[in-house]
Formats: sequence, C-alpha cells, structure tokens
Amino acid sequence: MPGSDRDRTAPSASATIAATRLDPTASVPLHRQLFEALRQDILRGRLHPGRRLESSRRLAAHLGVSRNTVLEAFGQLTAEGYLVAVHGSGSFVSGALPTSPRPPATSAETSPPQAESASISLSGRRLSCLADAQRSTHLRPFQGGVAALDALPIALWRRVGARALADLELADLGYGDPRGFAPLRQALAELLWSARGVQCDPDQILVVAGAQQALDFAARVLLDPGDRVWVEDPGYLGTRAALEAAGALLSPLPLDGEGMVVEHGIAVAPNARLACVTPSPQYPLGTGRGVARRLELLAWARDAKAWILEDDYDSEFRYSGRPLPALKSLDESERVLYVGTFSKVLFPALRLGYLVVPRALVRAFTGARFCSGRQAPIGDQATVCRFLREGHLTRHLRRMRVLYQERQRWLVEAAAELGGRLDVAPSEAGMHLVGWLPDHVDDRSTAERATARGLRIEPISRFSLEHRVRPGLLLGYAAFDRPAIQAGVATLESVLEN
Ligand SMILES: Cc1ncc(COP(=O)(O)O)c(C=O)c1O
Repeated sequence: MPGSDRDRTAPSASATIAATRLDPTASVPLHRQLFEALRQDILRGRLHPGRRLESSRRLAAHLGVSRNTVLEAFGQLTAEGYLVAVHGSGSFVSGALPTSPRPPATSAETSPPQAESASISLSGRRLSCLADAQRSTHLRPFQGGVAALDALPIALWRRVGARALADLELADLGYGDPRGFAPLRQALAELLWSARGVQCDPDQILVVAGAQQALDFAARVLLDPGDRVWVEDPGYLGTRAALEAAGALLSPLPLDGEGMVVEHGIAVAPNARLACVTPSPQYPLGTGRGVARRLELLAWARDAKAWILEDDYDSEFRYSGRPLPALKSLDESERVLYVGTFSKVLFPALRLGYLVVPRALVRAFTGARFCSGRQAPIGDQATVCRFLREGHLTRHLRRMRVLYQERQRWLVEAAAELGGRLDVAPSEAGMHLVGWLPDHVDDRSTAERATARGLRIEPISRFSLEHRVRPGLLLGYAAFDRPAIQAGVATLESVLEN
C-alpha cells in the first residue's frame, strides 16, 4: 500500500522477483533485464497498481547492480506509463493499470508486444499500458458510477429519438461545427446557468464523447510532457490515465473534509500547470468542498496562471439541501474548465458529455475536437437536446433521486448487519458509498476475494498514490435493485468472515 510502513522497511517483492531473473552474463544489458522483469511483475499483477517501489538506491543494493542501472530501468518504465514518479516520494505502479492479474502469457503472446514496443512512439507505449484500464464487464454489485439502467425510460428515449431524427434538416447531416450541434449547446448553456450557476456562452461549450474525452483533451491541449499537475489523492483513475498518457508529472495532494489541501500543493509544486478536482462531491471519498477552499484554489490558479479542471461528474444526485453551485460559477479570472457528462444522468454507453472552456482556449479545444472524431454523432446530440428541451431529463432525474436514495438506504440497512466488519454510513449525495474496514484489514485482498465470488468492488487504496486513507471498499448502489443489494451484502459477509 503506498506510503505504508511495510513499504518503507521490508524488501519489496520487486527485489525478490527481479533478483531471481537478472543474468549478468546475458547479452541483454542489465537495465533492460530489470525493466523487463519489473514490467512483467506489473503486468502479471505481482506489483499492484498504486504500489510504491523500493528506492533506486535500496533496489540497487539488493540486486548488486549500480544505481544507474536501476534509474535507467525506472526511467523507461515511467516513460512508458508503467510507473508514476512522485516528487519526494518515489516511484509507484501506475494506478490506471488493471488490478486483476493477467493470466501467464504464452511464448506466442510475448514476442509480438516486444516487436510492437520497438516500433511505436513513446506516447503509443504509454497508451498501451492503459489498454485494459477500464475494461467493461457484466454489471455486478457493487460496481460504482453506473446509473440505474433498469429504470431508464427506454421507450420514451426511442420515441424522442425518432422525432429528433425526423426534425433534422439536410444541413444538419453534413460536416458540422466540431463543437457540436448548436441547439444542444444552447440548451446546455441554459441548463448550466439554472442548475450549476455557470454563466457561459454556447460558443464556449464543446460536446464531447463523455467526460473521459474532455479529460484527454485537457491533458493534450494544456500540458507538455514533464508538466506538473495537482491531482486529488485518492482520486479518479480516468483522470490520472489521461494525464499519464500526456506525459504529465503528478503531484498527489492530500484531502481533508473540505477537499484538496491547496496549501500542500503550493508547498510541494507551486508551479503546477493544472489542478484536477472533483469538488461536488469528491471522487471517491464523497466529501464536499467549502467555499473558502474553492476560493483558495481559484486564487492560486489566478496567481500561478494555472488551469483548474472541474470534473462535475455526478453533482445532479444530491438528496438533501440545495447543491453547492459549481466551482466554475466563482471563476472570475477564467481559469476553470468545466466538465459534465450524460453518463450518470442517462447511461454511460451514450458517450456524450460536455466541456466548457475559457474563451482564450476555444480555438485550441475546437482543433482537438476536430482531430478526434471531428464531431459527436448528430442523432444522439439531437435526441439529448430534445430530451432536455421537453423536460424529460428533469423528470427522469427527479425519479432517479428518489430511487437512488432508496437504493442507498437498502445498502446501509443490509450492511448494518455486518457490525464492526464494515462501516457504511449514509451520504447526502452521489451514487456510491465507501464501506470502511477495520484498520488492520487489507482492502485490496478483500476486494480481490469479493471479485472471485462474483462481486465487483474496488478497494479505496487503489485510488491512492501517496496519501494513505483507511482501508475501505467502494460500493456503488445506483444500478442495483433490492435483491441484488441484499445478495451482494450476504456474499460480502462471507468474504469478510474469512
Ligand atoms: C469522477 C469521474 N469522472 C469522470 C467519469 C467518466 O465519465 P464518462 O463516462 O462521461 O467518461 C467518471 C465515471 O465513472 C467518474 O467517476
């Protein structure tokens, strides 16, 4: 676990595993052998995502090789995206890699990837590491971040879609504005103002293929390789993946009850170019962010001429009180890029989201949108636009708030039976809860055992790079009915008993 005492004191598995495979008499240089041995350890799951490696000095001493050999191997692993170098803390296995071990490769499997890595770009190699990061699997309790697909008004969606297509003009069917369908951008500007307090012109809005594409664009447009970025620790893996793919250096900042600790960021990386935040509510811990902290972050960005990326992924699901307006609503210096998505309010396979950028960035982002698929599919954009305009989205959200509150209550009630083995407290917002484990329990192996029993649970430590929080499990509830939640908790109980 990153930052744990065990990591700091005991020889890590990497040394033991790598030591058995280094051959000083081989024609392949030692740094290349070490690179390959560690790469295999990572790919086979022997070194987990988020795990801190021993320092180069200690590893070199263990292996009886020079420190430069280790540094060279680490450098290559970092460049290719397997490791993330954290200033002052060491090297960690990239959190964006999949957790479950891949089956051992056959010799037929191992040769082509080596040939591939020799003939593609550095950026291509970084991307190869992310290929399995967010594999889709069958929906299983307690997968997080998935809406109630069983409660989608599919028949209505189809009818609205048919009318939207019928109303399109011939001119709408050609190559259009890369920023997206103008009536949808107009509707979004109105929605952002009324629901999130964000004032923007439709010209500043880009319709994108989900929040993930917005994160990718932001990383590519705003950063050069080697630029520093503040990220929440623990934080969303998709953000880290996009940043790592762009060659950014991550500065993981701890969180308190108010969100990212800005003071810490100013102390360790005052010249960061970008800060990525999920202020309402924080992912994955679900904490809020008070106005004072928001203003502090904005003041830093203004003074440092840095950007803030606000990922407002599920602010629509708030169950009591009024939602706090978006951070973007306070952005007088035009430093905030705002990201929203239809994945949570409608369904993820729709792959539609939106990005609001400061005026100075409109041209660069329009170019990025053009290069990446040119524009979003017109049928989907027109359907969403009509769904919004006819008030269906508001009504659907109203129903989902009631349903999610109920599903959350079922989870909390079922989990109460687990006593002190899992502490699940209700929350005023979101689509998942964190089930906290006793301090001595390893959340990763618990999650792995749960996965082997047919659940899909992420350990909270998977989202941490440097700042360890209590062991816990991310429990999504929005997509599951009562029997699924109760059966899932019963399975979890048997996992925790072991
Ligand atoms: C914090 C956060 N940001 C972004 C996303 C990605 O959303 P999209 O499906 O729009 O790419 C998710 C999805 O779970 C998320 O949890």
